[in-house]
Amino acid sequence: MAVIAFSQECKSLGARVADELQARKIMIESKIFPDGESYLRFAAEFPGQDLVVIKSCFPQQDKRLVELLFILDAARELGAKRTIAVVPYLAYARQDKRLRPGEVVSNSSVGRLLGAVGADLLVTVDVHQKESLKNYKTRTVNVSAMPLLAEYLKSMKLSQPYILAPDKGAAAHAQLVASILKTDYTYLEKRRDRITGQIVTDERDLRLDCRDAVILDDIISTGSTIANVARIAERCGARKIVAACTHALLVGEAEVTMKRGGVTDVIGTDTIASSVSRVSVAPAIADSLRQHL
Ligand code: R5P
Repeated sequence: MAVIAFSQECKSLGARVADELQARKIMIESKIFPDGESYLRFAAEFPGQDLVVIKSCFPQQDKRLVELLFILDAARELGAKRTIAVVPYLAYARQDKRLRPGEVVSNSSVGRLLGAVGADLLVTVDVHQKESLKNYKTRTVNVSAMPLLAEYLKSMKLSQPYILAPDKGAAAHAQLVASILKTDYTYLEKRRDRITGQIVTDERDLRLDCRDAVILDDIISTGSTIANVARIAERCGARKIVAACTHALLVGEAEVTMKRGGVTDVIGTDTIASSVSRVSVAPAIADSLRQHL
């Protein structure tokens, strides 16, 4: 069985995954030098063993990404047989296309960098676009947190929940969750200004009287996307409005923005540990590792 390594910031998720797999855990010690550079050290040895590194690349994503690359690179030097990167939140996944001439497709660069440090497998959770992983040299697995989110939503005993995807990209997630909750779903049309980044959600007439609305997305960043949909849901008579996502980045005033839109509950997972991490993705990651190790 592989050894599971993680640093302090992923301690809870890392330990849960290791416990699920009954695998040995290794802490990765880290500190920041006065000039901002990272010091990293494996607290135990792992010669000849498969090493799973659990490191989520949420903000500060540049720092965490560089640390991940250093760790994977060093793991090889230190004798790991295979290195498996478990990156629950994969930074730069949203920049996966060149929409304007000259744009840097950061997601492709991340793929090349992981290949360059010899990662044998990348396991991530609800990556923004599954297709974006196809160009990676490294073998990739995209784990879905949606069944786990659905089970949590079930336990909330919502009133005739209606699942709303804020855009077409989230429609498959909404469909999956709706099928588990045995309810219906739809998706709205969202447009983003490619220069200002501002988003517009088209109005829709939805029959939500006496029903609870669940707005479901892969990422909540500034909360604007969710707030737009929440306003529509409120106008259409929703009783209670819940926002659920895999990656709760919750940048700046995101929670206030969503609350102003009418959202009463925000549910996220522990791909990014926060006050809204009510669902752990550890069982889904462990299942995937069982199949691929
Ligand atoms: C983009 O299409 C993603 O799926 C999310 O909808 C987006 O990242 C949410 O961003 P924000 O919370 O800033 O509106």
